[in-house]
Amino acid sequence: MLTKIKETADFIRNIIRDTPDFAIVLGSGLGKLQDEVEAIHTLEYKEIPHFPQTTVAGHGGKLIYGILEGKKVLMMSGRFHYYEGHSMETVTFPVRIFHLLGIKNLLLSNASGGVNPTYKVADIVILKDHINMMPEHPLRGKNIDELGPRFVDMSEPYHKGMIAVAEKVARDNNINVPQGVYVALQGPTFETPAEYGMIKMIGGDMVGMSTVPEVIVAKHMNMNVFCVSVITDLGGPDIAFPVSHEEVLDAANKAMPNVITLVKGLVKEYH
Ligand code: HPA
Repeated sequence: MLTKIKETADFIRNIIRDTPDFAIVLGSGLGKLQDEVEAIHTLEYKEIPHFPQTTVAGHGGKLIYGILEGKKVLMMSGRFHYYEGHSMETVTFPVRIFHLLGIKNLLLSNASGGVNPTYKVADIVILKDHINMMPEHPLRGKNIDELGPRFVDMSEPYHKGMIAVAEKVARDNNINVPQGVYVALQGPTFETPAEYGMIKMIGGDMVGMSTVPEVIVAKHMNMNVFCVSVITDLGGPDIAFPVSHEEVLDAANKAMPNVITLVKGLVKEYH
């Protein structure tokens, strides 16, 4: 794995020839954020050695290096999910590449189902913590000491400094952005009413099928992580609305202006 990630990182480094300030991962239906970047280099996943391929509608397949709010960003349009059949190593592969490229700050986004009764569809929520209920752990196996320690501190999974800046950006722009706990399940089924009830009971505010493996691998390598989630549907033990991928994409679309404002503001104001 180490050889592979070094080869991939070398390939990308030779093209971009700079250290980006932020890596940004776009979640389901959030691809429009890429139009905000003044692209310098656009790489299709298929032209990058060892890079995995996406299989989900609403997820692109491009790595874009460019400028956003005066900062250098490497944006990943199209992420890899465990439910697609990818191994945890594949799901988290890009994050390891970001680290080898010298990137310190990782901004993630995702779509999730809200169980907190104060949330509405198309709200955006900052992750303050998560609960990992994925069936496999991305750091299981022999530790790669070159990347990070065997036992990883998770006392601050989401960087408090970045959260504070994002909160200020939200206030300045009159966007209501609560902080919540994200529970990660494998998917690809959306949750049953009883499962939504369980998420709520264990202290979750929202539930989704991504993000947590990437956060764990990023923390292993001591990166600063920030994540914003779009509430694309609501669930609970007494709520039995049908959910579809189309509705998820539609809600993500509605929330897009707020996601763009938050991410751009954070990129601009965080030093
Ligand atoms: N569960 C429920 N709703 C969702 C999810 C999920 O994993 N992702 C987006 N909306």
